[in-house]
Amino acid sequence: MSSRHKMERDSIFVIGILLLSSFATISAADYMKYKDPKLPMKHRIKDLMSRMTLEEKIGQMTQIERSVASNDVMKKHFIGSVLSGGGSVPAKEASPETWVDMVNDFQKGALATRLGIPMIYGIDAVHGHNNVYKATIFPHNVGLGATRDPALVKKIGAATALEVRATGIPYAFAPCIAVCRDPRWGRCYESYSEDTKLVRAMTEVITGLQGDIPSNSPKGVPYVAGKDKVAACAKHYLGDGGTTKGINENNTVVSVSKLQSIHMPAYLDSIIKGVSTVMISYSSINGVKMHANRDLITGFLKNKLHFRGFVISDWEGIDRITSPPHANYTYSILSGVSAGIDMIMVPNNFKEFIDGLTYLVKNKFIPITRIDDAVYRILRVKFTIGLFENPLADYSMTKYLGSQEHRELAREAVRKSLVLLKNGASADAPLLPLPKKTKRILIAGTHADNLGYQCGGWTITWQGLSGNTNGGTTVLNAIRNTVDKTTKVEYHENPEAQYIKSQKFSYAVVVVGEPPYAETFGDNLNLTIPEPGPSIVNNVCSHVKCVVVLISGRPLVVQPYLNQIDALVAAWLPGSEGQGVADVLFGDYGFTGKLARTWFKTVDQLPMNVGDSHYDPLFPFGFGLTTKPLKNN
Ligand SMILES: *[C@@H]1O[C@H](CO)[C@@H](O)[C@H](O)[C@H]1NC(C)=O
Ligand SMILES: *[C@@H]1O[C@H](CO)[C@@H](O)[C@H](O)[C@H]1NC(C)=O
Ligand SMILES: *[C@@H]1O[C@H](CO)[C@@H](O)[C@H](O)[C@H]1NC(C)=O
Repeated sequence: MSSRHKMERDSIFVIGILLLSSFATISAADYMKYKDPKLPMKHRIKDLMSRMTLEEKIGQMTQIERSVASNDVMKKHFIGSVLSGGGSVPAKEASPETWVDMVNDFQKGALATRLGIPMIYGIDAVHGHNNVYKATIFPHNVGLGATRDPALVKKIGAATALEVRATGIPYAFAPCIAVCRDPRWGRCYESYSEDTKLVRAMTEVITGLQGDIPSNSPKGVPYVAGKDKVAACAKHYLGDGGTTKGINENNTVVSVSKLQSIHMPAYLDSIIKGVSTVMISYSSINGVKMHANRDLITGFLKNKLHFRGFVISDWEGIDRITSPPHANYTYSILSGVSAGIDMIMVPNNFKEFIDGLTYLVKNKFIPITRIDDAVYRILRVKFTIGLFENPLADYSMTKYLGSQEHRELAREAVRKSLVLLKNGASADAPLLPLPKKTKRILIAGTHADNLGYQCGGWTITWQGLSGNTNGGTTVLNAIRNTVDKTTKVEYHENPEAQYIKSQKFSYAVVVVGEPPYAETFGDNLNLTIPEPGPSIVNNVCSHVKCVVVLISGRPLVVQPYLNQIDALVAAWLPGSEGQGVADVLFGDYGFTGKLARTWFKTVDQLPMNVGDSHYDPLFPFGFGLTTKPLKNN
């Protein structure tokens, strides 16, 4: 055959193929109803589900960690979701572009499956997009509770959504709506308040993360407004903040009426606001593990409250149904899925999970109707987010990560979160606001120049870090930025008494507190300020007029030092924008924050919450002295 003939023959062949394939496209389009954005969502979900095999359905229920995920794994196992655990990042100091590339790579694996169902990537963005290098770190929730400003918290939700989307991620495991009833719990800072009303008000953050739900939305249906919003997650259902002595993941002993009046109401608000997902608590209620609690998950959350989003487990949450964890994984899968959990944060041994659930369904221990309920809910959230239309992220939103506008918002939140507990010996002799122009001032303390300490746990890593590696302003630098150019600022973390006496400081600012921690590791039965904090306070405050700024995730024992301290400020875990602390110390703004928690005298009073019959606090819930802004300081 001549080459010309060959070309002709080939082109006829190609035309034939083209005709055939366009034909195929048209007829396939007829069948691929679920891909048509013009059709109502429920028809699309129904159509898609009618095409799905059991393997594909179970894949949707499987959430795996990014470290075990890959394009191939997504494709081969029909994985429905990937997450970053605390500190799990594509590379150290990864840029937002690197994040987008990673998420897209997983997504392309999911899209390459037979039905091309997009995966959903989730991450703990609990005070800003906290795992991500150079993200804006907002104050932890305990500080936001002190602002008493739900509108501000909504703006923080919106800013967080933009930063999360900047990295190509559409789903945040936030907010934590725990009502922490005992500050000995290491996660207490993730709770807005011990007071249910205040936590309820702060569910406004959901409308920031997801957008304002339209008033005609049917009850319980999840809502996400668009590409600049993310799916939210109300957690941890239920009673996480009520465990005995604040022991993490422990047992919440509670009557039905207290459970309903203290721990449940913020879930009602979240559902009304269209929250997309609910995460189950590791803890138990009256001895029943929440991950196996069918009455509260299926009976109450789904059937009674009409929650229509999906229920997700916590990390290895079903494993911990048994003691020791993972003692009988088949039993764990059976009881977790039967209780009504839709997506399992496996997150590592996904083959074991997939095999176990497949066995349980094939042998009719779990009815297919339960699987269909789970998959329907997961797909509904994916369609709601618009993942079928826009599965892949681009770099257009990377500019939002750590943007100046978001840092200003965080700084405002810091200002409003500060609670002034003491200000001078009496109201007639206040120490604050401090003068900007004076000869020489001393800044001291373990937390004065440490962004990692300022940010607390769930920052860059799960348990948090020490040091100034992530962008932001320490309290020390904030003070340097704020005082008059002629004021000499001396910084010594732990200065000698002799030195302090010799220097004739006008005043000192001592910044001490807790080191960073997160769950379990942060549980603490004594709640003392760790050394050398108390020694520094003692040393400095006995020689010079001092303001102590306490950086902590909860009230600590301060009564023994109160007489010595001239002014005391609870700054909670303010995050990256320490400038907000100096803004208020020096009177550019007044103190307005009010305690969102009761400040106890001694730990043996705990648990002690507002409204208790034996209420004898050092500073009551709602306490907070105020100052007026100073002009021309
Ligand atoms: C609660 O903590 C105690 C003490 O550590 C432990 O013995 C018990 O098993 C825990 N209970 C639950 C439900 O985790
Ligand atoms: C594990 O749980 C399954 C399901 O409840 C049960 O049938 C089995 O006997 C258990 N295995 C062990 C070793 O306890
Ligand atoms: C207080 O408890 C923490 C956490 O258990 C512990 O690390 C610390 O040593 C304790 N401090 C004192 C003074 O007992």
